[in-house]
Amino acid sequence: MSKPVVLVTGANGEIGRSLLQRLHTDGRYRVVTVDLTPLPEKYRGFCLETYAGNIMDRYLLDQIAAHHEIEVVFHLAALLSTRGERDPELAHQVNVEGTLHLLRMAQNQSGRLGRAVRFIFPSSIAVYGLPSLEEKTKAGRVNEEDWNVPITMYGCNKLYCEHLGRYFTSYFRQLGALANAARLDFRSLRFPGLISAETAPTGGTSDFGPEMLHAAAQKQPYRSFVGPNAKIPFMAMPDAVTSLVGLLEADKSRLTQTVYNISGFSVSAQEIAERVKKSFPGADISFEPDAVRSKIVDSWPEDIEDARARADWDWKPAYDFARAFDEYLVPTIRKRYG
Ligand code: SER
Repeated sequence: MSKPVVLVTGANGEIGRSLLQRLHTDGRYRVVTVDLTPLPEKYRGFCLETYAGNIMDRYLLDQIAAHHEIEVVFHLAALLSTRGERDPELAHQVNVEGTLHLLRMAQNQSGRLGRAVRFIFPSSIAVYGLPSLEEKTKAGRVNEEDWNVPITMYGCNKLYCEHLGRYFTSYFRQLGALANAARLDFRSLRFPGLISAETAPTGGTSDFGPEMLHAAAQKQPYRSFVGPNAKIPFMAMPDAVTSLVGLLEADKSRLTQTVYNISGFSVSAQEIAERVKKSFPGADISFEPDAVRSKIVDSWPEDIEDARARADWDWKPAYDFARAFDEYLVPTIRKRYG
């Protein structure tokens, strides 16, 4: 039997590149990608086919589906939270309409194949909105259904798309003639802030963590846009990629919900700065909080409860704070910047 075809959107982004590397190493899938910008040569070599184009282009998505028997979609393309506040309408178009196009394509494909296309969707801690620091401290580790009142366009978009995915999986065309046809199989995880040694993210609000580290490794000063006490959960990129593949391959009969929190380690900006300085002693890190970006970070929970992911699909992060820096981030980033 030939290997199933996986479509990765946003393949040239932060998560995308790491995922392509992992899928290539695992060797269980053939990979088709779409991104606004062409993939670098190294990553093109991992793929069956790569498309440079916009997920808003329905014609392009139909073409991709016509050429490949797509059985899995990793829909990673998105505009992150800071970028989304600068252009909320564009964020809505990309994050919601774009996702709807992909869901429609995956649903059509499920009908054609006669079995459910698996649709993996990264959501985010941005779907939460804690009203005050006091409530945030009181709430501690939040469950999936708590505090779902985001204050960013990105958070609203992600939360709504989680619902859209659940709808497509269980209720799409429930009144119509297609009521018994194969529906897609949507699975989503809520990522904390991600830290990769390969790339610094763009347009996010959890970016202060990775930016501190990447700046120090390049001997550049860094002015943090949040204060030292700002605290949210983070995760090392290898764990993020493991979780995407883990959720894809999870046994459907064990899944009790379509959306799962997953957590890595919860740290403050100050703790990150101290850990960065330990490895890069001359690092020039200071705090010049931006009121709005700080407020966004303060609206995100201190930590998220991932007991359901652990119970339903054996999720377990390999990296805590110490191991993430000691064994992955610092050694890899040193090599990267020389
Ligand atoms: N990392 C994202 C952001 O900062 C949150 O999911 O927007």
